[in-house]
Amino acid sequence: MKRQLSLPKEKIRIVLLEGIHEAAASAFEAAGYSNVELHPKALPEAELREVLRTAHVLGLRSRTRLSADLLSKARKLFTIGCFCIGTDQVDLDAAGQQGIAVFHAPHSNTRSVAELVLGLTIMLCRGIFPKSQAAHEGDWHKSAKGSREIRGKTLGIVGYGHIGSQVSVLAEALGMRVLFHDIEPKLPMGNALSLPSLSDLLASSDVVSFHVPDTVLTHGMVVIQELGRMREGAFLINTSRGSVVDLEALASLLKEGRLGGAAVDVFPREPMAMGDRFESPLQDIPTAILTPHIGGSTQEAQENIANEVVHRLVSFSDEGSTVGAVNFPELNLQAHGDCSRILHIHENRPGILRQVTRVFGEKEINILGEQLQTRNGLGYVVLDTEHVERTAVLPALESIEGTIRTRILY
Ligand code: NAI
Repeated sequence: MKRQLSLPKEKIRIVLLEGIHEAAASAFEAAGYSNVELHPKALPEAELREVLRTAHVLGLRSRTRLSADLLSKARKLFTIGCFCIGTDQVDLDAAGQQGIAVFHAPHSNTRSVAELVLGLTIMLCRGIFPKSQAAHEGDWHKSAKGSREIRGKTLGIVGYGHIGSQVSVLAEALGMRVLFHDIEPKLPMGNALSLPSLSDLLASSDVVSFHVPDTVLTHGMVVIQELGRMREGAFLINTSRGSVVDLEALASLLKEGRLGGAAVDVFPREPMAMGDRFESPLQDIPTAILTPHIGGSTQEAQENIANEVVHRLVSFSDEGSTVGAVNFPELNLQAHGDCSRILHIHENRPGILRQVTRVFGEKEINILGEQLQTRNGLGYVVLDTEHVERTAVLPALESIEGTIRTRILY
């Protein structure tokens, strides 16, 4: 399949689905893309097919599923923005094989999660939720018993990445002592102390908060043995992934009063849609705070996501840069002044680069710069050359066997 997509910006049709934050449309317009269409919801399949026939850029969130079959109809589409963290809703291989680069915003909600963790830490240490529940039921639990300040307490952070390190800064600002454990060497923020052993961290913390990804190492990372290493009356917070903590074991230690409380935002089985029934072994335990995976769900995060994803889509459309693409070879490209820039996306097989450069050699077009990267069977080469007309090179480039897509950007 070979196509040319070298269009003026105002002709690039951008369709944003699922009520993506309005900052996205403004950011596109600020970058010179005026043909932006907004839809408040996901589209029914027939309408989505129709959109895919003509859109060049598609923005979606988690409810729009793009299968290989749907993508095969997207003849003009050259990039997809997932305005969320996950990208499972898109068949990434199929998109890559059509030369469609897919982007997302993995860290735009870091601050939202970190703030919630601090809030939960205070709520747990003060026993606010059971007291609030009692007040709703007409009971007046005015007591300082078991209610503690967080100042001077020890917070143990497991996973010291984007979120864990933000939590560290905020917790220290509130006077907490911070320990952390990570499998990678990490530079401590402030006075935080790195502990090589998870067991030591669990045994030394008043509150333990998890900020690890879902990997073979973290899946089932916290079972009864680990929970048993925690201090008597300590608190556990998990806003990371539902697979990390064994909730049956956590429920039994909370019921026994061995742990003081827990706040859990992520679950092994989460309802697919609003209104679907949610079940967890932590239900009906007064010391457990349960939230419906909203750690990163704030208006600010939505706006950050909009700006971050649009930045990536525009960098790809304007310059061919694929930094942060989840299914594409990564090239970090800046605008080059006085030249033409040509993109060639191809199946990763021997000899293609030689044939690409031969096209320019035969036409005596001077190549000023050339970058190649490959990934998952895809090859991506970007050439900066002396000024050329698209008709001078694109037909020859497209005739190279294994070519998926070519574009001339300027
Ligand atoms: P990140 O990738 O920046 O940091 C993860 C850290 O965990 C890295 O430093 C990594 O080295 C470390 N790590 C990996 N395996 C480990 C192990 N076995 N033991 C100790 N450390 C380990 O990720 P980020 O952005 O900080 O996100 C953390 C988690 O939060 C992710 O699971 C993410 O899915 C989740 N998340 C949840 C949200 C919510 O709404 N509840 C929103 C955003 C993220």
